[in-house]
Amino acid sequence: MDTNQLKKAAAEKAAEFVEDGMMLGLGTGSTVFYLVEAIAKHVREEHLQITGVATSSRTAQQATSLGIKMIDINDAPTLDLTIDGADEIDQNFQGIKGGGAAHLLEKIVAINSKRNIWIVDESKLVEHLGAFPLPLEVIPFGCDKVFQRLTAENLQPKYRLDDKGERVRTHNKNFVIDLHAGTIAHPHLLADWLDHQTGIVEHGLFLDLVNTVVVGKESGVEVLQA
Ligand code: A5P
Repeated sequence: MDTNQLKKAAAEKAAEFVEDGMMLGLGTGSTVFYLVEAIAKHVREEHLQITGVATSSRTAQQATSLGIKMIDINDAPTLDLTIDGADEIDQNFQGIKGGGAAHLLEKIVAINSKRNIWIVDESKLVEHLGAFPLPLEVIPFGCDKVFQRLTAENLQPKYRLDDKGERVRTHNKNFVIDLHAGTIAHPHLLADWLDHQTGIVEHGLFLDLVNTVVVGKESGVEVLQA
């Protein structure tokens, strides 16, 4: 099976967690693409009343086009459930997100949800976080000063560039800096330090947010519970 089939299988399994009447957070990425399709199918076939909040305009457009009612997060009460992809997940269900530069909106939605589930193919499960470069969203004003601070801490920052060599802009027109520092021995300590760096709007460490991971494996779909 190729990776996309594993992602699709995980997404379809996770869609079974969606119940009638739920206020739902919808993540971003290629795995969530399959999730939105699967949820829309449940909504159609079982006549579910679902309201969604999206973490990107891509997801909002897809969900709306498939008939899922979407609202702004500011108009939503606490969400019942958010389902999202991830870039790496360690054995303690701590994760890195932001490969698609959507981690700021994703974290806002995640912390406003009663429950969070991640959907991944098995290649995303790791012993220690850090092989995947850690994304930061950084305000353009003074961004090179932030970059210098990160370099001084030996965090090996790189601006994320698009195909044309231009700096990638997030939904909020900020830049993305990826940290290529390798294994993150102490995710909480690093997250705390990054949280205190003025100019960094949000980092991609998602800690203590998820208790269920749905994994697409060659051997079948597995639901991991913390
Ligand atoms: C978006 O910024 C990310 O956090 C994605 O959720 C993450 O990169 C997973 O993406 P895929 O499902 O495309 O692998």
